[in-house]
Amino acid sequence: MRQKLVAGNWKMFGCRASVEQLLLDLAAQEYPANVGIAVFPNFLHLQQVSQNLLLQKKWNLGAQDCATELELGAFTGEVSAKQLADVNCSMVLVGHSERRILQFESDQVICRKFIAAQSAGLIPILCLGESLAEREAGKAEETVLTQLNAVLQEVGVGAFKHAIIAYEPVWAIGTGLTATPEQAQEIHGIIRGYLKQHDELIGQSVQILYGGSVKAANAAELFAMADIDGGLVGGASLNAEEFSAICRAAGN
Ligand code: 13P
Repeated sequence: MRQKLVAGNWKMFGCRASVEQLLLDLAAQEYPANVGIAVFPNFLHLQQVSQNLLLQKKWNLGAQDCATELELGAFTGEVSAKQLADVNCSMVLVGHSERRILQFESDQVICRKFIAAQSAGLIPILCLGESLAEREAGKAEETVLTQLNAVLQEVGVGAFKHAIIAYEPVWAIGTGLTATPEQAQEIHGIIRGYLKQHDELIGQSVQILYGGSVKAANAAELFAMADIDGGLVGGASLNAEEFSAICRAAGN
């Protein structure tokens, strides 16, 4: 039985004061005990969040990106997975579509980040997803499996014992357009089936999150699907009531 996980990606939002307020608001909500919870603040706010009480409730702290290089060195502007582990991160997003598209990250770069994350003892959340044009051309499956394969071929299926996958269709991110539960389930099933072909047990146990306009109003029906193990939540994770309601939906 896979545990559900709800992860909040705070993206490039917040300043110290608003993060403090969000932490207070989050602490005032109720959360189910049977759901994993993780938050991904901006790099600048990792320590602030790490020092907060929430993490004593065993929430996971994660970063939104890490360097391709693991060892500390002359890499201006970069943050190593080792440095993230040092401020109590246990997870890191790799290959988010906003980085693939806006920062021109290739599959090869994303693969190196995945490896760096695991080498530092972090769990990478590998983000996959097709654009609207790719979906309309009937290429959603091909796109997602190509992105997955770029990492899988390099690291081997065994690495997915200590990794999480997030399916985030680009057309559903920040648009208010959520994939229907059936659309999301179809791709989740394809991803899991593909991993199972490589290793039945790992395919069965890997957590696959859905991301793209998840909110309290649609979370329960998404999380009820067989291969959806929780959500990677953007906008709604900045609102404590919404975020906690999404966590509760995952607990039912
Ligand atoms: P939204 O929930 O704002 O659509 O963002 C999804 C996302 O990109 C999470 O990583």
